[in-house]
Amino acid sequence: MPKIILAVTEQRLTAAATTWIEAVLFNGALAVDATVGNGYDTLFLAHRVGPKGTVLGFDVQKAALAGARELLKFVGTLDRVSLIHDSHTQLANYLPAEASIQGAMFNLGYLPRGNRQIITRPDTTVMALRAVLANLAARGRVTILAYRGHAGGIPEYVEVRQFLEQLPDDPWIIEEFASTTDSPVSPRLFRIQKKLISEEQI
Ligand SMILES: C[S@@+](CC[C@H](N)C(=O)[O-])C[C@H]1O[C@@H](n2cnc3c(N)ncnc32)[C@H](O)[C@@H]1O
Repeated sequence: MPKIILAVTEQRLTAAATTWIEAVLFNGALAVDATVGNGYDTLFLAHRVGPKGTVLGFDVQKAALAGARELLKFVGTLDRVSLIHDSHTQLANYLPAEASIQGAMFNLGYLPRGNRQIITRPDTTVMALRAVLANLAARGRVTILAYRGHAGGIPEYVEVRQFLEQLPDDPWIIEEFASTTDSPVSPRLFRIQKKLISEEQI
């Protein structure tokens, strides 16, 4: 079982996610935004995968996807993004054949300035995580920002953590980050990396 190392970061957790994930993205990479929302993470990934890359972005809210589409069109990066009106649990149905994911971002909870009743759920989040990890490239990275301040936030955080804890040590490296102002309801960031060479290959 991997030990999940808890560390405190002085960075904003959103920055601790983006600066880490961009290090493994390149022009032509495949990235996944599991929760498009207002599209800010999708936009970030679209820049980092470059004109030859692809971003698959999922959301269950049509209105969120419409807003994200406008943003991406305005900035000129819509060409490399597929906005998918479906649950992230269905990821495997949308992956190009033989494709492996270089980076994936999960930003859990509800849509800021949107309907607070529509939130990510523990079981479907874990299902989507399984699908992402099963299709992650060696050295690929996944970030999960878990918000704990709303009803449903803590059970989801707990279930995601339990899922990550039972993953095998090889090939996974898992870290958890708290901010300097951490409290029992503050967000937490998980960062998961797939090792380059698994012990089985040595
Ligand atoms: C915290 S928001 C995402 C914020 C977004 N990353 C941004 O940059 O604005 C969470 C989003 O997850 C979406 N969501 C909830 N359940 C989902 C599911 N099963 N599959 C995909 N998206 C889901 C919600 O509709 C909401 O827009």
